[in-house]
Amino acid sequence: MLEIPGEHETLTTPLQEQLQQVQMLFQQQLASDLDPVNALCQHVEQYRGKMLRPTMVFLSGLAVKGARWSDQDLLEQHRVVAAVTEMIHMATLVHDDVLDDASVRRRGTTVNHLHGNEMAVMLGDYLISNAFSLCSSLDEPWINSVLGNVTNTLCEGELVQLHHRDDLQLDRDTYFQIIRRKTAALIGACCRLGSMISGADAVAGERMDRFGMGLGLAFQIQDDILDLEGSQEVVGKSINRDLANGMMTLPLIIHMEQLEPEDRTSFSELIRTRDSGVLLEQLAQSGAMEAARNHAMDLVRSAKQDLEELEDSPARQMLHAAADAVIERSF
Ligand code: FPP
Ligand code: MG
Repeated sequence: MLEIPGEHETLTTPLQEQLQQVQMLFQQQLASDLDPVNALCQHVEQYRGKMLRPTMVFLSGLAVKGARWSDQDLLEQHRVVAAVTEMIHMATLVHDDVLDDASVRRRGTTVNHLHGNEMAVMLGDYLISNAFSLCSSLDEPWINSVLGNVTNTLCEGELVQLHHRDDLQLDRDTYFQIIRRKTAALIGACCRLGSMISGADAVAGERMDRFGMGLGLAFQIQDDILDLEGSQEVVGKSINRDLANGMMTLPLIIHMEQLEPEDRTSFSELIRTRDSGVLLEQLAQSGAMEAARNHAMDLVRSAKQDLEELEDSPARQMLHAAADAVIERSF
């Protein structure tokens, strides 16, 4: 029986057994007879964090069953899709650390800093290739198609983000276009696939996708806030990378929107100095940081409304809790 986690448990505690099976599928798929390849894959295993994407596959699969679900409702297809989405996610992290020139990820050294960019690019390719091999073992072309579209979308998001590197006039719409593609699309697909494997129809799958998208957008806004104001020790990864790489994020965009045109040049100069201390002070004073936080909260509120059609159940309550957790986290 799935039970809502107790006070001292984390959101994933009730799914522990399912998530362990996901880890096993992950390791089996990446096991190689070549030691250097194994060593790299084991290093990536240490990047595993909250397992948000597999959790979304499982909870969405259970939530659409309503209050009358049973343990049998989680199928091998859910577990394989959960492992595939985690592998896609890991591939994007390995590549992202190359693009951001990041040295720390999940409290460990990044592959690019340990072994160089060439190795990190190839390892990311290896992970994405394995993700689709594993997915094909299901012999369900529609699932490959959903995830293939997502990886196309992810790359588009990153390409648009790179196109706007050092564009300090980046507007809110373009920012949302980027984060919808690079982060929210995969989380949306996890919810869509989890629910449709459980028998949800296309309309219900679309609604679950919308829920995951909203949660994913809020997740990335919080990620961008932490990149500005978090500390590497707590966040567990390199911070201030957005500033260092000329990526405008929501708090900076909101602050820029509020300025008179003649003050924008001096704020742009301040951004170019990469002095996060002074920037943070200004963002706090203008209320831009607070406004970005409120925007993420609104997204979470409206995402939860997408679940209203579902019967109340422990899984639906845990999806609510997951949505709250993405904006309450400090890492
Ligand atoms: C994190 O952004 C980045 C992503 C969520 C997507 C990265 C995608 C790619 C690099 C494309 C590669 C695609 C494939 C299919 C392998 P961030 O830098 O804001 O997050 P961070 O704080 O975790 O570094
Ligand atoms: Mg990054």
